[in-house]
Amino acid sequence: MFINLISDGIYLPNMKHWKRYTITAALPYANGPKHIGHLAGAYLPADIYVRYLRLKKRDVLFVCGSDEHGTAITMQAMQENTTPQAIIDKYHVLVRDSFEKLGISFDIYHRTSSPLHHETAQEFFLDFYNKGLFKEITTDQYFDEEKKIFLADRYITGTCPNCGYERAYGDQCEHCGKSLSPSDLINPRSTLSGLAPVLRPTKHWYLPLNEYEPWLRTWLLRDHAKDWKTNVYGQCKSWIEGGLQPRAMTRDGEWGIKVPLPDAEGKVLYVWFDAPIGYISATKQWALDNNKLWELYWKDSDTRLVHFVGKDNIVFHCIIFPVMLHMHGDYIVPDNVPANEFLNLEGNKMSTSRKWSVEMHEYLEDFPDKVDELRYVLCSIAPETKDSEFTWKDYQTRVNSELVAILGNFVNRVMVLTEKYFEGKVPKAPENAELKVFVTGQRDKISESLENFKFREALTEMMNIARHGNKMLTEKEPWKTFKENPEATGAVLYDSLQIIASMAILCEPFLPFTSRKLFGMLNLDAKNFSWADAGRQELIPSGHMLGKAELLYQKIEDETIQKQVDKLHHGKTTDTLVIENKPAASLETPVQVSETEPEKPEITFDEFAKLDLRVGTILTAEKVQKADKLLKLTVDLGFEIRTVVSGIAEFFKPENIIGQQVSVVANLAPRKIRGIESKGMILLAEDEMGVLHFILPKELTKNGSIIR
Ligand code: MF3
Ligand code: ZN
Repeated sequence: MFINLISDGIYLPNMKHWKRYTITAALPYANGPKHIGHLAGAYLPADIYVRYLRLKKRDVLFVCGSDEHGTAITMQAMQENTTPQAIIDKYHVLVRDSFEKLGISFDIYHRTSSPLHHETAQEFFLDFYNKGLFKEITTDQYFDEEKKIFLADRYITGTCPNCGYERAYGDQCEHCGKSLSPSDLINPRSTLSGLAPVLRPTKHWYLPLNEYEPWLRTWLLRDHAKDWKTNVYGQCKSWIEGGLQPRAMTRDGEWGIKVPLPDAEGKVLYVWFDAPIGYISATKQWALDNNKLWELYWKDSDTRLVHFVGKDNIVFHCIIFPVMLHMHGDYIVPDNVPANEFLNLEGNKMSTSRKWSVEMHEYLEDFPDKVDELRYVLCSIAPETKDSEFTWKDYQTRVNSELVAILGNFVNRVMVLTEKYFEGKVPKAPENAELKVFVTGQRDKISESLENFKFREALTEMMNIARHGNKMLTEKEPWKTFKENPEATGAVLYDSLQIIASMAILCEPFLPFTSRKLFGMLNLDAKNFSWADAGRQELIPSGHMLGKAELLYQKIEDETIQKQVDKLHHGKTTDTLVIENKPAASLETPVQVSETEPEKPEITFDEFAKLDLRVGTILTAEKVQKADKLLKLTVDLGFEIRTVVSGIAEFFKPENIIGQQVSVVANLAPRKIRGIESKGMILLAEDEMGVLHFILPKELTKNGSIIR
């Protein structure tokens, strides 16, 4: 922010006239598809802002690309039996193409796996290293001796010291919620090999964030107190006040950017060190391709740098990356980070791994010609100040009663009436000064909202122009006046066409496909117009021949919506297991394959009631000859003792489960398994690693008790 210090000491923010803009949108991890929550959180608002700046004829660069490193991608590759390269190649293309189809108008969509990026990130590292800015710290870290890798906290499980839950993670117990470190766990095990990990010393290079606290207090807490969103500012403040710690900028591992030092074999840059530098390398690539000077976009104090991100990225873009830019010395730091909160879906947190999401590419498959409809709805409900919610019903309502009924209807009526009464030519009419004041006023309101990153408000003001147009038609009823007073009809249609021409400009940031259609219908060339033209006199001149009318939007039927809701609830079939790559605000990237959504068709209560579920206790257990997976059990069901053959031998040793209480399906028809008659079935839960766990009553319960 530029600060004008007026003599009486009042700070006036945003008085600066910026010469150019570098706009970034968070580089998505190339480890899975992205959903509409990501779109609403960062990419759509960034695109709206950029399109607006371009219409204002500003020099603006919009960069993004794939974030292709990180432990999570390595782990995912191991779990899916593939390579990190195969994963990133697949998702880089999928995500890039989805953005393009959604009209997200990046100037470049780069990749952090590119050589140019590797060089750029290593240059940053060496700059800090050579200036002696890193702290070298050796710590003991857990190591998996079978898989030969150091384990991030999330990949270690063990018994929670707080509640005794046996599958607590190295960073948190999901049962009691306590945050942990791996050394707190009783009987820690590697989730990769199942073995007990060993502690090994390892050296890393740390960014001494604590040393930059005074700078952060001035640059961020003082100078941006007024112009940053309160959700963003608040998070930063609590981070800084909480005390900043040195943070490791390197990791043990193979996948990533090699630490460019001789004694750093097997070490790579921390993904959050290299990823934001990706904005810079993307700019370099763009400059090479377009014959520009990249440094102007990163090193000139007249350039406004703005990062669009979701709320889980705030600390990296407001604290860590700015400190890095500041440490380097020649770089500008962000002037704003207008982060959004999260978008929920039909009452739950959106999640790709839980299959509770609307993926961008899936939306595009189902609604290839309804991109502006999605942009409109997501902008209307964007989680600008707090979490918000997408529901299909609401999507339908907004499309039908706003886009179709207000904007579409207005344009359609005007086109049809002009065709009918004036053979598709703009009628002659006197200039309407009042209308001009109204439209230019709306234009400036939209500008102001956009400059302040209030996209929802801006969209409402844009739609208010169409509302005004509809009202005018309803009041003046030009179809009634034509016979006696064709000039009156002409005047209303003339005014309406001026409104539509202004809207073709003003809707472009939000609804680029609509804008293109409107220009086509008006038979005008979009290239000849800029933001300032909106509301101008005779934007579309009398006598001008209009183009062909098109339907802007179509009503969305209940069936269409129901299909989407059903699809969501029934879980979608995916060919690969998608793991979320969600950076914990605190430390390493947690990876978790979460429970799957219901996949079986609905049953009635009566069908459910047919099951006879009972509590039982295992009395004996032995291996079944020549069957690796099977155990032969006898189970006390209270009213009788049963033989049950169960496929659990890989997970339990016979001697360890004697006396174990279990849940049994008691009325399952008997089956012969390996010559043994098995009567009943033991219930087990399979976790995300494919490991089985018994399901049993929380307290010891009498055998034979009915489970219902
Ligand atoms: N890949 C990160 C995420 O999806 C965002 C990285 S933004 C960058 O949360 F600045 F680091 F590139
Ligand atoms: Zn616990």
